[in-house]
Amino acid sequence: MNKLLVLTGGGDCPGLNAVIRGIFKRAKKEKDWKICGSMEAFNGVMSDPVDIIKLNKENTAGIHIKGGTILKTTNKGNPLQYPVTDENGNITLVDRSQELADKIKSLGFDAVINIGGDGSQKISQGLFEKGVPIIGVPKTIDNDLSATDTTFGFQTAVQIATDSFDKLVTTAESHHRVMIMEVMGRDAGWIALHTAIAGGAEICLIPELPYDIQHVLKRINSRYKDGKGFVNIVVAEGAKPKDGEVIGEDRGEGFEHLRLGGIAYELSKQLKAAGCKAEIRETVLGHTQRGGTPTAYDRVLASLFGVKAFELVLEKKFGQMVSFKNNEFTHVPLEDATKTYNFVDKDGYLVQAAKGLGISFGD
Ligand code: F6P
Repeated sequence: MNKLLVLTGGGDCPGLNAVIRGIFKRAKKEKDWKICGSMEAFNGVMSDPVDIIKLNKENTAGIHIKGGTILKTTNKGNPLQYPVTDENGNITLVDRSQELADKIKSLGFDAVINIGGDGSQKISQGLFEKGVPIIGVPKTIDNDLSATDTTFGFQTAVQIATDSFDKLVTTAESHHRVMIMEVMGRDAGWIALHTAIAGGAEICLIPELPYDIQHVLKRINSRYKDGKGFVNIVVAEGAKPKDGEVIGEDRGEGFEHLRLGGIAYELSKQLKAAGCKAEIRETVLGHTQRGGTPTAYDRVLASLFGVKAFELVLEKKFGQMVSFKNNEFTHVPLEDATKTYNFVDKDGYLVQAAKGLGISFGD
């Protein structure tokens, strides 16, 4: 009997359960595979006793329509840089990947599938270098991995943001207000840009195009005549003014990234300081963008990623990450998978087309 270990790491994302189910269903077509899940990323393996469950027909049935992950997840405690606190409260980062690789081996796993974003796939590569037969599956609502044309979760996040944007348009119009809606996306403006186009925003602010507050104000003013008018703005959490910094807080050791958020309120203050006369309201969508049921598109993408990942296991193509490139389900070496961050091309057609639709980037 062959044993496969599946886990989900990093922030959750709609579609994770569809990948898990896809792996399980495809594996059942083979005779001799036992599929297990490590709870809360690799914590399930590292803990003593281990927290590993057997995946079966009952616990995977129908889960493709559910948000979250039945295996739970975490974006803390990277085994390559594990935070250890000494008696004086000082934190040092320790590489525990060899210990983890040895444990996976001693538990008798023939293969591992790690479903996660850039941080998780760096861990996959680290474990692969320690001899773990591992396959990566990319996930992120941010669409910030360049090794794949798209990731599941992104379409769902854009749909949730667009639904909220539509609601803000009617209330902006009723009150002649400026509505600022902040969306996620980390250092990439994909969610903001797609939402702005889908919703018909007047202004879209993204990290790739730092904004000039005077240009933003000019666009707002062009929408008001005799005090009447309204404006809807989408701002990415990683957006910043030309001479400013991103708004975020350091979460301390053990976390990979800054916690971004708050630019909607900052922008509101900047607009008032610059002389904006209209009433402004701010909405921060936050984690609603990651919750709930995945769209049909994301369910299909996630399910096919699951099937493909298991097929790579059968072919023993370890050290690879599943990818969807040029309309094809394929794979790329884990080593290359996280090398290049997928920024919005500020000179590309998507931005040009958005400008053609009358969207201002405040640049
Ligand atoms: O990477 C996904 C994401 O939702 C980002 O868009 C956001 O900046 C971050 O994760 C939030 O992380 P947390 O769940 O730790 O607050």
